[in-house]
Amino acid sequence: MNLYADALKALTISDLAAMKRAGEKISCLTAYDASFSALLDRAGIDVLLIGDSLGMVIQGHGSTLPVTLSDMVYHSRSVAMARKRAFVVTDLPFASYATPEQALLNAASLMQLGGAQMVKLEGAKLDVIRFLVDQGIPVCGHLGLLPQSVNRLGGYKVQGREEQQAKQILADAEKIEQAGASLLVLECVPAQLAAEISQRLSIPTIGIGAGVDCDGQVLVLYDMLNISTGKRPRFSKDFMADASSIEEAVRHYHQAVKSAQFPASEHSY
Ligand code: KIV
Repeated sequence: MNLYADALKALTISDLAAMKRAGEKISCLTAYDASFSALLDRAGIDVLLIGDSLGMVIQGHGSTLPVTLSDMVYHSRSVAMARKRAFVVTDLPFASYATPEQALLNAASLMQLGGAQMVKLEGAKLDVIRFLVDQGIPVCGHLGLLPQSVNRLGGYKVQGREEQQAKQILADAEKIEQAGASLLVLECVPAQLAAEISQRLSIPTIGIGAGVDCDGQVLVLYDMLNISTGKRPRFSKDFMADASSIEEAVRHYHQAVKSAQFPASEHSY
């Protein structure tokens, strides 16, 4: 197994930063296995996110909480091995980054065994982000709806509708950038708030249910292919509806993100 031969030709964090500076939107989809990884890569998707959403769409759980580090390593490696160009970001799962030291050990596994180029973690865990970045590990932050905190949040709800909460999300976004993160996912926040954050930060923002003004977009692959078992979230779109193959649907998504035609206002808050 050589996880890194192709990674040498893959996009890097510098390429993603340059895309933001050039005003080029970043396309991202979740991926969990080698076949979809190769297909998404062929279709031109810039970033493959091995999301812990796999707990819901692959494993059939009702949340992401049961997903383990070894699940993440397994799926990350399957994706990393099969892609050529796309940048690979892998989620640190629930309760795997409570301290900087724990985060380092687990992020190292995602990179060494799972071929991740960057790890993603939820919330403004500034000490953890600083520590990982100091050890040479690129970090993607995640604000807004935090699925790993669903029990504390009391459900999967839009975050940042009230002024005080919106100010907190904006302040956290700035602190996450200052702590050294290179990318920031914004999930289920009002489009106006996401636009302001994207404008203030120099690192790229990747939105999901966060409006068209983010620097890039991500969707859960199975939602946009309309094969998830649960109800498709309002912010997602069925790209299979007008496509004759999965690859065509993914190409349509990629083009819609690049041309800022997705998300439309009906997919935003
Ligand atoms: O786990 C996941 O797929 C994610 C996306 C929803 C951003 O974190």
